[in-house]
Amino acid sequence: MLRYIDERLLPGELRIAETRDWQTVVQAVKCLAVRGAPAIGLAGAAAVALWAAYDGTDFEAAAEAIASARPTAVNLRWAVNRAFGEASGLEGGARADALYGLVKLMEAEDEETNRAIGEHGSALIGSGSRILTHCNAGSLATCYYGTALGVVYSAAAEGKVERVYADETRPVGQGARLTAWELAQVGIPVTLICDNMAASLMAAGNVDAVIVGADRIARNGDAANKIGTYGVAILAKEHGIPFYVAAPFSTIDAQLADGSGIVIEQRAANEVLPEPIEGVDVWNPAFDVTPARYIAKIVTEKGAFSPEELEARL
Ligand code: MRU
Repeated sequence: MLRYIDERLLPGELRIAETRDWQTVVQAVKCLAVRGAPAIGLAGAAAVALWAAYDGTDFEAAAEAIASARPTAVNLRWAVNRAFGEASGLEGGARADALYGLVKLMEAEDEETNRAIGEHGSALIGSGSRILTHCNAGSLATCYYGTALGVVYSAAAEGKVERVYADETRPVGQGARLTAWELAQVGIPVTLICDNMAASLMAAGNVDAVIVGADRIARNGDAANKIGTYGVAILAKEHGIPFYVAAPFSTIDAQLADGSGIVIEQRAANEVLPEPIEGVDVWNPAFDVTPARYIAKIVTEKGAFSPEELEARL
């Protein structure tokens, strides 16, 4: 049995969904009930474990259906490949048990990784900081604690966070519905802004740092994240504000030399325009790529690196 928060209902309702069906997990990832790169990675591994426990037919087709549920976050394919490796050579109950054990291990590893990201990132945050973030890269996007919000939580525990500004994150509202709610739950001061207010907020001198998550980072440090992140990075540079990306190593795609090869998911028009208007087309890419030159540090579980340092390490 897999239990997950159906995030489509937040902040109105905190509902825990339950399923034994791997195809339901694939649907949950596609419709953003479960979202955020590390969370969909774990959901992918859990879907493989459910397949082993309750289905067991045509492994390769099931694994491919799971791994391709969303194309941009490399964590999903990474996690499914890891589960595939764990299952190889096993069958029946032994395979299901091994995969269950792997999912529990990955869940624990994810929190440990995020806490390490938090510590490394907190060292970059000065006292009294006002931090802007885009989308949701918190507990709700991971198993627990978060990547970008992991940095916020660690810095807040050291008394260094004055306030977080959460971009609302059109079109699906991960900032408004999830980040603002998640921070309010733990009592971190949070102010919600519309995406188009970030420039004015920075110009007014109210932002000391920007921290975001990532869905895929190329070898040179180009980083894909929720649509709108690139614009925030340009604004940060213009205003002399450091722009940090927080992500685990499982988000780095060492096969890609730069961000031009990152597949950007295109989503349905009705996320932007619920009622179609005749003669109006909609363009709805879910992510954009921030070039490495805008990124001051990429904060990982192994430390915080400039894009050049990270590439040298890879
Ligand atoms: O479409 P989403 O909500 O899955 O997009 C999520 C993001 O862009 C996050 O910032 C990213 O996955 C990092 S989550 C720790």
